[in-house]
Amino acid sequence: VGDILQLARPELRELKPYSPGGYESGLVRLNANESPWRIPSDNTERGLNFYPPPRPLPLRKLLAEHYGVIEEKILVTRGSTEAIDLLIRGFCAAGKDQLLTCPPTFDMYRLYAGIQNAEVLEVPLLREKGFAIDPKSIIDRVTERTKIIFLCSPNNPTGQSIEHGDIEFICQTVQEKTLVVLDEAYQEFSDKQDFSALEEKYENVLRLRTLSKFISLAGVRCGAVIAEPRLIDFLSSILPPYSFPTPSIELVLKAFDKRSLNIGNERVQVLRTERAWLKKELMNVSDVKKVWPSDANFIFVETSNAKNFQETARQANVLVRTFPDQPALKNFVRITVGRREDNNKLLQAF
Ligand SMILES: Cc1ncc(COP(=O)(O)O)c(C=O)c1O
Repeated sequence: VGDILQLARPELRELKPYSPGGYESGLVRLNANESPWRIPSDNTERGLNFYPPPRPLPLRKLLAEHYGVIEEKILVTRGSTEAIDLLIRGFCAAGKDQLLTCPPTFDMYRLYAGIQNAEVLEVPLLREKGFAIDPKSIIDRVTERTKIIFLCSPNNPTGQSIEHGDIEFICQTVQEKTLVVLDEAYQEFSDKQDFSALEEKYENVLRLRTLSKFISLAGVRCGAVIAEPRLIDFLSSILPPYSFPTPSIELVLKAFDKRSLNIGNERVQVLRTERAWLKKELMNVSDVKKVWPSDANFIFVETSNAKNFQETARQANVLVRTFPDQPALKNFVRITVGRREDNNKLLQAF
């Protein structure tokens, strides 16, 4: 077995991480140039006058339990968006390395690649096959400089999950050569299995999860990378200390109890039922040409004119997403599944 860390930027593997000042509860902290006083409105346990812990270890433990993995396999990030940035910076040398995406997909892979000056290889989803990935073309496109393949399942904005066998074929074929990052932001809304089995089997496979979708915590910005501990340690070494703020840590620790999880799960069920209903209703809208099946909390719709559709919805005070910068998606609209009253508001506009 080769060393998967060989894929990382060599100069980063040698970099000595920042060593943060220690923290021990009960001891006076004269080691971090902080203020000794709280502001009056500070209701946090730790005190906002102090830096947060360099890494939110209790949160890591909580997420490890939730995702059913050991703590060493979890890196807590500010949303999974930060994980995407970190992976690209950690593995793609600017002006040299590449990553591969399957558009239409989440746009942040492209954006962070651009910021790092990493080349993006695009292997489009196959529209005629219901926006499935094209595993053979993906493998054909990968070169020695391709460090990461990003696969999003269920995919944003098309809504479908990727076949397990297709992903396994890719993971197996590029083992030791390329990381495969499986973005599972919408997994909770899908009936299909997650990719934990592949992450356990192949050390080049990483999963991204987020609290932004299923448990109503988009505002706290909490995501997680799940991967082989050596990859987690490496990513952690290039993530600045204190990046995860105290209010977010304390809020997630408090919010993520059994009761909230039960409510979260019930709401996922409600949204799934609502998704089926909204899909059926949308098919009766004359401006809608096709409604694609969805495993996520949104529906991807082909309309006769996306701009007009968006404008009509806007007149009824409803915002929907269009893709004016992507010619292939010119007439597509992405609609988040809302509560019945929200969905009705949209439908009544047409
Ligand atoms: C596929 C996908 N991945 C990741 C994210 C980022 O989520 P966050 O940074 O809130 O965890 C999103 C957000 O829309 C997404 O659609």
